Amino acid sequence: MEETVAVFDFGSQTAQLIARRIRELGVYCEIVRHDTSRDELLELGPAAIILSGGPSSVFEPRHPRMDRRILDMGVPVLGICYGMQLLAEIMGGTVERGEGGEYGPARIDVEDPIGIFKDMPSSLNVWMSHGDHVTKTPEGFRTLAGTPTCPIAAMADSGGKIYGIQFHPEVVHTPRGSDIIRNFLFNVASCRGGWTMGRFVDESVKRIKALVGNHNVICGLSGGVDSSVAAALINRAIGDRMKAIFVDNGLLRKGEVEEIRSMFTDDYPFNFQIVDAADLFLDELKGVVDPETKRKIIGKTFIDVFYDAASDVKGAKFLAQGTLYPDIIESRSANGGPSSTIKSHHNVGGLPEDLNFELLEPLKELFKDEVRLLGKELGLPSKLLARQPFPGPGLAVRIIGEVTRDDLAILREADLIMREEIESYDEKKEIWQFFAVLLPVKSVGVMGDERTYANVVALRAVTSLDAMTADWARIPYDVLGRISSRIINEVNGVNRVVYDISSKPPSTIEWE
Ligand code: XMP
Repeated sequence: MEETVAVFDFGSQTAQLIARRIRELGVYCEIVRHDTSRDELLELGPAAIILSGGPSSVFEPRHPRMDRRILDMGVPVLGICYGMQLLAEIMGGTVERGEGGEYGPARIDVEDPIGIFKDMPSSLNVWMSHGDHVTKTPEGFRTLAGTPTCPIAAMADSGGKIYGIQFHPEVVHTPRGSDIIRNFLFNVASCRGGWTMGRFVDESVKRIKALVGNHNVICGLSGGVDSSVAAALINRAIGDRMKAIFVDNGLLRKGEVEEIRSMFTDDYPFNFQIVDAADLFLDELKGVVDPETKRKIIGKTFIDVFYDAASDVKGAKFLAQGTLYPDIIESRSANGGPSSTIKSHHNVGGLPEDLNFELLEPLKELFKDEVRLLGKELGLPSKLLARQPFPGPGLAVRIIGEVTRDDLAILREADLIMREEIESYDEKKEIWQFFAVLLPVKSVGVMGDERTYANVVALRAVTSLDAMTADWARIPYDVLGRISSRIINEVNGVNRVVYDISSKPPSTIEWE
């Protein structure tokens, strides 16, 4: 990468936001472990360094530190919150424990509008979130801004290269935060900017070529946005030496296998194979009712089928995945940083320990919306980039109880009707995800003069920003009515439709 900013991760939940803000300003950025050594950093050759905040205190005996020599490299540094306290500790200032801390909005008085505060008003609204604070600047540093409770809210060294700020410029509650980061990048660190997704493609292509050499790459393709964009990017770099493998587990929505086939053979062709393993998956799921057991069986069967297909590819050394940055922080605790692990997550359903491939994860520094931009840059069809999230275990977690071929056929038809009706109603795509669920319940109905005793279908539609929380979508009654009447009339075996009005939490989006 030509011009890179390194964000040292001290376990902040907002390290990703810092990276985001930097890229929005047209500068490429990578998040690195807080204990990255000077030599490792030299390889990256950063134009500037940002030290993130974090949950630790410099008073903890084993608090996360950094290689002291990095501060002598002459590269501009901005320490945020814990990053500022660590700078003060390392460079001989004083940090004190706050009484109760300071969390929320604050107003700082800018005493010295230089460097990061260039062209800023003398008073700024900022967001604070800290326990400890700096009470004496290191020698050669001066105070740039303060509040009555935090007199040293910003400091700079005499050379104007090292800055510390106690507040968080990366969050939206600091309205001029982006301008402060902009000043640091362009005024202090003389970055040139101009980074775009187009540059990301060029640089990634170079990196992938250099890493892969003459070897081949297998890519696990799910048909979702992330793995498709990863495959397209690798294809751009090494052409047919990447082979994408799509496992048809027989648990997809109606028409999806055909859609994926035509997408990657006609619309955006690359070396790609569909492995039809539907029978195997359905055999393995026979008689299984428990949701977790279903998920485990599907995960294990996927791995077996995928590795079987992958081992047929000669000279394959790398396994590519569409892992994103949020996946990494959820599973690996922020680049090995000290934040707490939220949940385990694997894109290919749990990789075996004795993996015979090296991992290739070209999207691992990006966020979901950045991946969509990248996909657009690569020319992927917009219908693919707009796809809804779809769970790895597919319709198996939308058929409550045992999964049978008959039930899959019923659910597919009902789900298709829901899709058709919602797609024509929700033109602005305000609904995050919608699908039908087949319940293991039969109810009595009457059709014509006949009594029926048939299945119940639940409709699920939610609005959400990130799937962590969700609310049920307020779909107009007449749209719901149309879906219900079409399902009952057109799908054999269903005589009742209900609408799920639960939010997440306490419910989840999927039913299993
Ligand atoms: P829940 O049901 O946990 O779902 O509220 C949150 C989001 O994750 C999707 N989901 C999955 N995605 N593998 C995936 O790749 C899975 O096993 C899985 N389970 C749930 C779900 O569709 C929703 O978007």
